[in-house]
Amino acid sequence: MNDPLQDPDFFRNPYATYARLRSTAPVKRLTTGSGSGRPSYLITGYREAREAFVDPRLSKNTARFFADQPSRRDLHPAVSQSILATDPPEHTRLRRLVARAFTTGAVERMRPYIDEFVDGQLDAWAPGGQADIVADLAVPLPVAVICQMLGVPEADRTQVRAWSSDLFAAGQPQQIDAASHALAYYMGELIATKRDQPDTSLLHDLIAVRDGTDQLSESELVSLAVILLVAGHETTTNLIGNATLALLQQPDAAARLRAETGVLQAGLDELLRLDSPASIATFRYSTEALTLGGTQIPAGVPVLIAPGAANHDPTQYADPDQLDLDRDSRGHLSFGHGIHRCLGAPLARAEAESALLALFTRFPALRLAVPAQELQWRHTRLMRGLVALPVNL
Ligand code: HEM
Repeated sequence: MNDPLQDPDFFRNPYATYARLRSTAPVKRLTTGSGSGRPSYLITGYREAREAFVDPRLSKNTARFFADQPSRRDLHPAVSQSILATDPPEHTRLRRLVARAFTTGAVERMRPYIDEFVDGQLDAWAPGGQADIVADLAVPLPVAVICQMLGVPEADRTQVRAWSSDLFAAGQPQQIDAASHALAYYMGELIATKRDQPDTSLLHDLIAVRDGTDQLSESELVSLAVILLVAGHETTTNLIGNATLALLQQPDAAARLRAETGVLQAGLDELLRLDSPASIATFRYSTEALTLGGTQIPAGVPVLIAPGAANHDPTQYADPDQLDLDRDSRGHLSFGHGIHRCLGAPLARAEAESALLALFTRFPALRLAVPAQELQWRHTRLMRGLVALPVNL
């Protein structure tokens, strides 16, 4: 079969494609699209996705997978061999160390900054005017917050933001590779500065973290700084854009969010489930042959788990394409599951809560400025996000 994930309709509405694939098999062989020349397997069933996320036969050590393939790419190892590309025991050690610095307390301390930044953006919007939720709020917020948290000086933030966007741009491979080197070099220098001049930043906390005699090496620190910056960039942008669109399309839900305190905290899980910012998780490959959801997967092939599809599995969520703020959606897979479950989830939630609450309370008349069918979605298979979200204030 052709690669259904390359179809233009897929970008407009991936859920119809996912439903079609799932109805034939919850784990499906695709003949193209892995980028490695080998067939890949796409997981669209909820139960199968949960199982796959915790199956040790599905490895994230992608350096090993690509070892026998000539590559013309020159991605900096800080990106290509990050925590997301490690298996236990290496992953266990890294994750334990980083979790000692990137705590919920550290995220809570960011809330005042997040609220202040959101308010500052919205202050520039005149009631009755127009804004683009993506460009004017959802794009600048995550980078500003992680730069503040890591302790990137104000003067460097525009440049850091540009490199981070280049890394994710569906652009030229050379441009992406160059951005990875620039960012890794920059973070190396910043780490050296923070060693000399200790401060209260997350980057300094990561330098200082100790587990007995164990600590993060220089290259691990660079890699973590870069991955923290990029992992939460486009994903959080997409969450704010997708969630705003869902609420604009269901005004009674937006009204409840304004009227009842606490609705958003639980409702955010439903918004995450409904339109997962990461439609497909980072790729894994099979280290041995296995059977999943009745499908045989040979050894040595890429396996793609699709949280976007799993979250719409009707055997798990009735009427899955419908936003229902009263639904218990906590089991959604938008932040992944298992040992690689999103480290930044509390930060992403704090940002989305702040942005959505401020948007819908300060601009109660908020409406889409164009018909929903005319909105453009980004053409990337892994991410699900809008190019722009023009609104009337
Ligand atoms: C709505 C926003 C976000 C979404 C939807 C999201 C989604 C995900 C998903 C699905 C994974 C697992 C990938 C896999 O197993 O293949 C993941 C891992 C990760 N995320 Fe997020 N993420 C978000 C925001 C953030 C933020 C703000 C940060 C950091 C500041 C972050 C840092 C990470 C890191 C470091 C990992 C790797 C964890 C590990 O390998 O142990 N993410 N994220």
